[in-house]
Amino acid sequence: MAFPWAYCTILLAVYQFTDAFSSNVYIVYMGDKPHDVPELVKDSHHELLSHILGGKKTAMESILYSYTHGFSGFAAVLTPFQARIVAGLPGVVRVVPNRILNLHTTRSWDFLQVTSHLHNGILLRGQYGAGSIVGILDTGIWPESESFKDDEMKAVTSHWKGICQEGEQFNRSNCNRKIIGARWYVKGYEAEFGKLSTSDGSEFLSPRDATGHGTHTSSTVAGAWVGNANVLGLGQGLARGGVPSAWLAVYKVCWATGGCSSADILAAFDDAILDGVDVISMSLGSLPPLSTYVDDTVSIGSFHAMANGISVVCSGGNNGPYPETVVNTAPWVITVAASTIDRAFPIKITLGNNQTFVGQALYMDKDLDKFYPIVYGEDIMSTDAYEDDARSCVADSLNATLARGKVLLCFESRIQKYPVNAARTVKNVQGIGLVFAKFQTKEVSLCLDVPCAQVDFTIGTSLLTYIGSTSNPIVKFNLPRTIVGQQVSPHVALFSSRGPSSLSPTVLKPDIAASGVDILASWSTAAAAQPSGAIENHLHPFKFKFASGTSMACPHISAIVSLLKSIHPSWSPAAIKSALVTTASLTDEYGQAAVAEGAPHKQADPFDYGGGHVNPNKAIDPGLIYDLDVKDHARFLCALGYNATSISLLTRTNAPCRGTANFLANFNLPSITIPQLKNCTTVSRIVTNVGPDLSIYTATIQAPPGTDVMVEPPILAFNSDLKKLKFKVTFCSMLRVQGTYSFGNLLWEDGLHVVRIPLIVRSIVQEYYH
Ligand SMILES: *[C@@H]1O[C@H](CO)[C@@H](O)[C@H](O)[C@H]1NC(C)=O
Ligand SMILES: *[C@@H]1O[C@H](CO)[C@@H](O)[C@H](O)[C@H]1NC(C)=O
Ligand SMILES: *[C@@H]1O[C@H](CO)[C@@H](O)[C@H](O)[C@H]1NC(C)=O
Ligand SMILES: *[C@@H]1O[C@H](CO)[C@@H](O)[C@H](O)[C@H]1NC(C)=O
Ligand SMILES: *[C@@H]1O[C@H](CO)[C@@H](O)[C@H](O)[C@H]1NC(C)=O
Repeated sequence: MAFPWAYCTILLAVYQFTDAFSSNVYIVYMGDKPHDVPELVKDSHHELLSHILGGKKTAMESILYSYTHGFSGFAAVLTPFQARIVAGLPGVVRVVPNRILNLHTTRSWDFLQVTSHLHNGILLRGQYGAGSIVGILDTGIWPESESFKDDEMKAVTSHWKGICQEGEQFNRSNCNRKIIGARWYVKGYEAEFGKLSTSDGSEFLSPRDATGHGTHTSSTVAGAWVGNANVLGLGQGLARGGVPSAWLAVYKVCWATGGCSSADILAAFDDAILDGVDVISMSLGSLPPLSTYVDDTVSIGSFHAMANGISVVCSGGNNGPYPETVVNTAPWVITVAASTIDRAFPIKITLGNNQTFVGQALYMDKDLDKFYPIVYGEDIMSTDAYEDDARSCVADSLNATLARGKVLLCFESRIQKYPVNAARTVKNVQGIGLVFAKFQTKEVSLCLDVPCAQVDFTIGTSLLTYIGSTSNPIVKFNLPRTIVGQQVSPHVALFSSRGPSSLSPTVLKPDIAASGVDILASWSTAAAAQPSGAIENHLHPFKFKFASGTSMACPHISAIVSLLKSIHPSWSPAAIKSALVTTASLTDEYGQAAVAEGAPHKQADPFDYGGGHVNPNKAIDPGLIYDLDVKDHARFLCALGYNATSISLLTRTNAPCRGTANFLANFNLPSITIPQLKNCTTVSRIVTNVGPDLSIYTATIQAPPGTDVMVEPPILAFNSDLKKLKFKVTFCSMLRVQGTYSFGNLLWEDGLHVVRIPLIVRSIVQEYYH
């Protein structure tokens, strides 16, 4: 029996606070905690600040959070002047201003059916996630959703130290054997933006989810089985999370009115580490430019989690298909790209001259099986509008008199990328329907309740030619259908952020791709009350919803990580990531190389999807792993040039910066990236055998074009005493021109396993400047 995963699409509650944001809140890092007694650590924070603020009482009022578990530090309301003084105090490692991060939601609302993605193999062996605790940092949870019933759940283990924090419309009875913990963090947010108003029911000062995002990600990870889940009768089927038997711990750090404060996020990490979660799933991040690893809360919080054996899985962002847009790029987190599924929603478009075209449509409330006049936006622009606006049917750009009763043809533009806003214009001018021509992508958007077909630019241009060729252009749509299995998949989704990492290009990012387009999962019925939220919410209070984004891909990987951890409790976070990366798939279901949306038939490369598309059942038994521990990560930071003081903020390792000259190249990642290859260079890796004791592996090289690659030794023989072996890879550039990135693979094979890592090389023949 296959267990369907759910797919869906939501739109745009995009919060952008990055520009011209000046903080009142500062995060003060004091390095590794000096005591194991949280109260003493906390006292030391009050003590320190009372010198600056002139009294312990003022100090206590100014401190929003004391971080006492993973490390020592606090967040406080300070003036920039006070912050500078604090930075100079003994014991203070670093002071950074609070930042506001965004949810990696959603591109558009889509409606489709559930599909099956997680094979029984890993699900059964991982016992459906039983015994595993997944921490979700997000917008909270809608506990009444059927996905969070606890009928089948065991009582929580005694090692769980979390709590069920009460608040508005959320009390202890809202936690159960599924939602075992719930906390909320608003101090950092309110210190920046003022008190949150909750009187209109659009937000709750509690773990209750007002927007739906956190409910969606939580149920995608660990939702219980729900039969007959559907959206407005569409997408009928069995919905469930990846690990239906896992426990959920909810940390609400993002608020409906916009954004998530880094001081709040750090407090959530601190608590989650102490509470005893096994995996942290986090579908949010900030926009590029990326902060350094010691300035970025997610990087710091996740480092401490990793040091405690907790895997942290993050979305890579929705700023694709442009290069260097990936975020959450610390090497100790798993960064997830989004891919499509094998589903299409063809809609037939017939013109008055009997020409037919096929577009895509997810949802149509009304039957439009008869001819209506069609008109091009730019041909009916209102007198004071811009042509560019009218072409894409931006609000108020059209002459309503001329648009009424017609189907509008509109083209994607820089300001109007999605049909949903054009659909709103159609409603406003009392049009009949919409044909929206856009960049080719499989992500299909909901158009409110306006009949709407999405076509590519070629079809859009044909329609335009037809409109110009006749005095009475007319068009009709047939009801869309749902077709499964006839689409080649997975493709990397157009919106999925791409590598290389703009912070450290030697660390391949993203790491792995998982389904993130059209995901069906639970929603918050309070979202309909959102005054500023996604406009689609106002149609209905949804219990389930389709959504797209790397936000939706991230919880798929979190669920798989939780299963791997159940099967291999002793594996480090790096080992788990290695297993995912080295077993990932590079091809679609027909064995063809996977494609990345963003260019016509561009073959996907590691900057699109890291190791490839996740292959959960193969990841159980990877054969070899590329492992890393806390010390390795500290040395990595040294090699990048971070000084011992700033590294002590992350970890107490003695003199980690000695002997790290070549460490960056030899950092034991399950990938090799050489951004500047001049002539030849040699790097090393160490693999750990996790398969049969007696194993002999042979190397196969698929060299990046323009590069000569050699492996030494070409054979690795393991036995019961020999679990770890080192090898060297030498790359020589054969190019005589300035190169671009090229891609290859290194495979170790023993007849049972294929352990593959990507090789990424850019040849630099000459320096432009000396
Ligand atoms: C908790 O909330 C539920 C409704 O959500 C209510 O029925 C119950 O009485 C509340 N319990 C307490 C102790 O307040
Ligand atoms: C379109 O097809 C219909 C039915 O086949 C036919 O009656 C009609 O004449 C055709 N119209 C044109 C413009 O070819
Ligand atoms: C809309 O078009 C009509 C007919 O051409 C014209 O009379 C009217 O002034 C136009 N209105 C605007 C706002 O452009
Ligand atoms: C260490 O690095 C940080 C961040 O780059 C910098 O602010 C600090 O001054 C450095 N400290 C020393 C002792 O060089
Ligand atoms: C490149 O490296 C090879 C081997 O190390 C060496 O023999 C050769 O002279 C080098 N070429 C240049 C142009 O540096």
